[in-house]
Amino acid sequence: MTGFSTKSIHGHEHKDAYGSHIPPIYTSVVYEYIDYEIGEAIVNDRGNFVRYGREENPTTRALERIVAKLEDTDDALAFNSGMSSISTLFIWWLKPGDKVIVPMEVYSSTLSLLNNLASKLGVKIVKVWPSAEAIVESIDKETSMVFLEAMTNPTNKVIDLDYISKCIDNERILLAVDNTFTTPVILKPIKYKARLVIHSMTKYFSGHNDVVGGVIAGRKDDIKTLWDWRRMLGGILQPFESYMIMRGIKTLELRFEKHSLNAKAVAEYLADHSKIEEVLYPGLPSNPYHDIAKKIFEKPLYGGVVSFKIKGSYNDAVNFMKKLKLIKRCPSLGGTESMAVLPVKAGSMFLEQEDREKLGITENLVRLSVGLEDPEDIIEDLSQALNF
Ligand SMILES: Cc1ncc(COP(=O)(O)O)c(C=O)c1O
Repeated sequence: MTGFSTKSIHGHEHKDAYGSHIPPIYTSVVYEYIDYEIGEAIVNDRGNFVRYGREENPTTRALERIVAKLEDTDDALAFNSGMSSISTLFIWWLKPGDKVIVPMEVYSSTLSLLNNLASKLGVKIVKVWPSAEAIVESIDKETSMVFLEAMTNPTNKVIDLDYISKCIDNERILLAVDNTFTTPVILKPIKYKARLVIHSMTKYFSGHNDVVGGVIAGRKDDIKTLWDWRRMLGGILQPFESYMIMRGIKTLELRFEKHSLNAKAVAEYLADHSKIEEVLYPGLPSNPYHDIAKKIFEKPLYGGVVSFKIKGSYNDAVNFMKKLKLIKRCPSLGGTESMAVLPVKAGSMFLEQEDREKLGITENLVRLSVGLEDPEDIIEDLSQALNF
């Protein structure tokens, strides 16, 4: 099983007495002991007892096998949200005196979680410009973790993981990459010495704006320890959600390609529009991150998120948003429906004002998650909304 889509479809490797092709939704929380005196139950392929739903669930396990194959890792662990995976990772890894390097542009709940934990645990958070050079420069003896998103949200800066991989000792420093925006269709962080790969599966993995979930993929020993933390913190992904995400993942490659093609068409249209000040999309050859993206991405696809600045003020951006008809005004990304937000009032709201200014997250910035509708219809909606 080598091809991406083949792994997405068959990677669950589920087998049962009926020859079912689709892993069933195991709703049972409890499973019969083989030896109840010592708590022994049936052992799954990870070597764990399947006896209680907060520890293991066979449907969730099937999804984890798929994700591990897609990210080329030993194993994976599914959580009930992207933030649940990230918080479990931080609680497991961080200890007093640690230093964590994080680009100043990461998902804002990740940053606020880090800040809150840091003050409780006595961990130092060093926020740096989102570039490989700035990250590498700030690594020192105290550094225990680098946490980053390879393509930043919302300004789509691409961080040169190849450069980082040549300068980092990933035994001493945990390099964790949130691959939500890029997905394993175009980026394999493990090739660049990431020790753990994280996803909000709420986005492209499930792909239909109808499930919340998260996952961590990595090597066997780390996943084994994280499994214990998941058990203690209680964040396992539930079976129905696992089933839904498995269903979504089957078309991940197809969908991601179409999202990317639609996004490129939208970016090209906006780049030529008189009411647009700037388009931030690494798929445009004029974009300053195009060459890094070309170098580290597996394919010439650049994802479905196009950000752009409306010429004028915040009020002009609001007027544009108000006029959208087909495109929904809501958070999240990576789903079938096109969706737009004003980052200053949404995902970037918790970033410090000073950082937002440096990063170019201005009041007239719009983040558009380009969906799977026909590109002509998306462009027509943008066109009428820009006519204010
Ligand atoms: C890059 C990134 N990571 C993590 C998360 C958190 O995921 P969730 O909403 O599934 O908890 C998000 C959510 O928007 C995100 O965009």
